[in-house]
Amino acid sequence: MALWGGRFTQGPDQRFKDFNDSLKFDCAMALEDIDGSIGWAKAICEAGVLTLEEKDKLIQALNELRQEIADDPHKIAGEADEDIHSYVERRLIEKVGQLGKKLHTGRSRNDQVALDLKLWCRASSVKISEALVHLEKTLVECAKRHQGQIFPGYTHLQRAQPITFSHYILSYVQMFERDYKRLQNALDLMSTCPLGSAALAGTAYKIDRDALAVDLGFKEATFNSLDAVSDRDHVLELLSCASISMVHLSRLAEDLIIYNSGEAGFLELSDKVTSGSSLMPQKKNPDALELIRGKCGRVVGALTGMLVTMKALPMAYDKDLQEDKERLFDAMDTWHSCLDMAALCFEDLKLRESKVESAAKGGYSNATELADYLVSKGIAFREAHEIVGRTVLYAIEKNKALEDLSVDEFEKFSQVVGGDVYECLKLENIVAKRDIKGGTAPRQNALEIERLEKLLASR
Ligand code: ARG
Repeated sequence: MALWGGRFTQGPDQRFKDFNDSLKFDCAMALEDIDGSIGWAKAICEAGVLTLEEKDKLIQALNELRQEIADDPHKIAGEADEDIHSYVERRLIEKVGQLGKKLHTGRSRNDQVALDLKLWCRASSVKISEALVHLEKTLVECAKRHQGQIFPGYTHLQRAQPITFSHYILSYVQMFERDYKRLQNALDLMSTCPLGSAALAGTAYKIDRDALAVDLGFKEATFNSLDAVSDRDHVLELLSCASISMVHLSRLAEDLIIYNSGEAGFLELSDKVTSGSSLMPQKKNPDALELIRGKCGRVVGALTGMLVTMKALPMAYDKDLQEDKERLFDAMDTWHSCLDMAALCFEDLKLRESKVESAAKGGYSNATELADYLVSKGIAFREAHEIVGRTVLYAIEKNKALEDLSVDEFEKFSQVVGGDVYECLKLENIVAKRDIKGGTAPRQNALEIERLEKLLASR
């Protein structure tokens, strides 16, 4: 049953109907449509459009429908209705007859869809926030388990300076923490309710829009009906939160893939998140991480797609806006599953300590420390840099680490080197010295773990 037709002398071409209908995907907003309809029934009852009895009857039927949908959620997608709003209205009329036809008084599908989608966005943000917190907690636990473990720190994928593994893991917690806050900010901006804006000009019925907004979980009603029916900033914002977070996830995935490779061998991913090759029996592929990395493209694509859909959209509602849903639903599902999968990758993740340590020791990652040592003996940093450069070249030729050189060998490059140089070249001492806020020292890591544990427990 279409919600319109009086003005038409002919039905739609089937090909147009298939092209135009959105039920197959907007059925995901069935519960939101029912919540919104219940809110609307109450509001128009207050305005004198429905009697108390009629309102109760409608609400009861809508709740029944909610239960039926919960019992068989996949059934709706196959129905012939144009969209979820038409479906809910048809089913309501089937249940309560003529009375069902009163519910749409003063409402348009334009404010209805704006409301449903905003409610969906809010619910989805809450679910994703929980997944972010879960991932952060998993990472903090991992950092805590491996406290004090030395790890090679890289710039340009070249070993640069030793760090701790905890410090490395906690760097990603910072990113996901910003993702969490970004999402809360987005949620905060989604706190106005568009219902009552009608098609574009605002409803003519005297309803209390602010009370309706609060009833539906918002802070207040929107301030301009034209904007309210055509605003999809919350979709853009969620997609941009999702994209930034997926970029973070893709970086984490890429790091772990590299560290898990045969060449690095720092980690071993568990069998739970890897798969084999159909041809090569020895293979254990990091598929979970590769998919996380790959799916980043899909989410960023959803954001760019939606930005282009919104660009130059005439005020107010245009059917272009129906293009907001599929990619938003897909992007949020993708983001959610990638967050969960990233957390799963840390379950039973094995750190190969001896590999990590020898990698941290190699690559002359204590060279900067030797330069600082020379500075402490009164040599200017630029000169110290040059001396250490030459010393490293010599050590490479001899196939030795810096700490394996004798004092005599050091003296070839600088007279100030003494026996105390060996303590200063020890990786444990190097990391322990970075004992300032944000530094890699195990003491700082412990403080940060404590801070994050408290913060995450409070959510
Ligand atoms: N399915 C439509 C959408 O998703 C619902 C709103 C339709 N409004 C209209 N005037 N045709 O945008």
